[in-house]
Amino acid sequence: MRKPLIAGNWKMYKTPQESAAFFNEFVPLLQHHKHDIAIFPATTSLAAAIDAASGSHIAIGGQNMHWLAEGAYTGETSPTMLKALGATHVLIGHSERRQYFNETDETVNLKLKSALAHKLIPVVCVGETRDKRESGLTEAVLNWQLAAALNGISAEQAEPLIIAYEPVWAIGTGLVATTEQAAEAHGIIRREIAKHLGQHRADGTRILYGGSVKPDNIAKLMAEPEIDGALVGGASLAAKSFAEIVHGSARAYGEKS
Ligand code: 13P
Repeated sequence: MRKPLIAGNWKMYKTPQESAAFFNEFVPLLQHHKHDIAIFPATTSLAAAIDAASGSHIAIGGQNMHWLAEGAYTGETSPTMLKALGATHVLIGHSERRQYFNETDETVNLKLKSALAHKLIPVVCVGETRDKRESGLTEAVLNWQLAAALNGISAEQAEPLIIAYEPVWAIGTGLVATTEQAAEAHGIIRREIAKHLGQHRADGTRILYGGSVKPDNIAKLMAEPEIDGALVGGASLAAKSFAEIVHGSARAYGEKS
């Protein structure tokens, strides 16, 4: 059984002070549960979040990174810089990076190799746009994105790998993939991982669902055996709603396991 992970992507929200205030409210709301929890704050709030989360079991990660350890790349953050702060995870290839900041399948691959080499736990985001889904190209897009991301990576190296399936049409839109759509996409992703890294690695890889996850839809999503957790945007910004998502997931996971 894969251990679920509930992750919050704060995107370009929250100052260091606001981040610390979130943890002051969030940590006491967590009761005993079986979950791994990770939060991805803005780069400028990483230090405050790591400090505020210390002593809890909440992991903190970067939302993006360059693949090199250092260099003349104005505005970028390196894996060694994330590590030095105490970050343990990193998001790679989020659709907003692909859409607005020229992230390509090639840079996703470079970043994934670098994260693994630097012992950061990578959460690689894949997902189709509405156009591609409506043209019947969901499977082709997912397979293509995964094949490119995993190029040159061995099953052994990919041991910590986490994938987030985020259909672009469901992000920030209030449209949630049905559990059937999500389960089907997760199945496609798992088969593609198996093709590149073998069935054993595919069976052990956590695949999160992301796209308008809220307290009222988490239980249904988590009841699906193919869904190993969630990557939550908007609903992770408020401590109460994110804690409700963790608790909803824990209940559904308890029923599933
Ligand atoms: P929303 O939960 O706001 O739809 O965002 C999803 C997302 O992009 C998480 O990375």
